[in-house]
Amino acid sequence: MQPIIELEKVTKRFGGITALNNASLKVNKGEVVGLIGDNGAGKSTLIKTLVGVHNPDDGDIKIRGDKVNNWNALKAREAGIETVFQDRALCPQQSIVWNIFMGKELKYPFGFIRDKEQITEANRLIREIGFTSKLINAESPVGNLSGGERQGVAIARAIYNNAELIILDEPTNNLSLNETQKVFDFVLNVKKSNRSVLFIGHNIYHVYDISDRFVILDRGEVVHHLDKENIQSPEELMKIMRDTIKSH
Ligand SMILES: Nc1ncnc2c1ncn2[C@@H]1O[C@H](COP(=O)(O)OP(=O)(O)OP(=O)(O)O)[C@@H](O)[C@H]1O
Ligand SMILES: [Mg+2]
Repeated sequence: MQPIIELEKVTKRFGGITALNNASLKVNKGEVVGLIGDNGAGKSTLIKTLVGVHNPDDGDIKIRGDKVNNWNALKAREAGIETVFQDRALCPQQSIVWNIFMGKELKYPFGFIRDKEQITEANRLIREIGFTSKLINAESPVGNLSGGERQGVAIARAIYNNAELIILDEPTNNLSLNETQKVFDFVLNVKKSNRSVLFIGHNIYHVYDISDRFVILDRGEVVHHLDKENIQSPEELMKIMRDTIKSH
């Protein structure tokens, strides 16, 4: 099977700091990959390189098997890669439908927005990804939503933008157990639709629960690729992470 995206031996330096050193990672269709590592390990740098915000100093990026050149954020989005940053991307005063269609509205030839169609589509999208509350619909203001539900709106927007790979940067930070469960449900629905998720997290328990595979970063280096089926518990994953950090 062809991975959607591959990072091959990528190195990224900032002045004297090597933020990524020979790092490789791939994401296949329909899988959830958990990216973990301590503060400063290079997780954000890795994602930003993947989505064309940073140019690697060395190494290759491949999309569906083909090496890319002059990779940038626009090309990454056109290739179906969407990143959801926590709390940052949404406009809380506006409705769910407004947030989903922001910048990519459905319009009539004279520029008027096709409101009804957008509402219908937004309602379909939020149900598809797993919004169950009867109190919430496309016209609800995002400001009234819980943290988990806001992640859901951002994920719905990514799907509307034809994302095949959705990158979630610490999506469960500051969320209650209940809200975290909502985010997990959304992620599982994304997976069910045969899209892929790269899930970045500090909380090993969250990453363990939701991922099919784990990639551990330590000081810019990918030190482990692990399949969930070989790791019996989050404690085991935690121990592997601690041991590598100690011995590295
Ligand atoms: N734009 C930048 N300029 C200079 N140094 C940077 C820049 N971005 C990251 N770094 C450095 O690269 C290293 C990796 O940082 P990065 O933000 O990728 O880590 P992280 O794993 O995302 O950490 P955290 O868990 O704290 O978000 C750090 O030493 C950081 O200070
Ligand atoms: Mg980071």
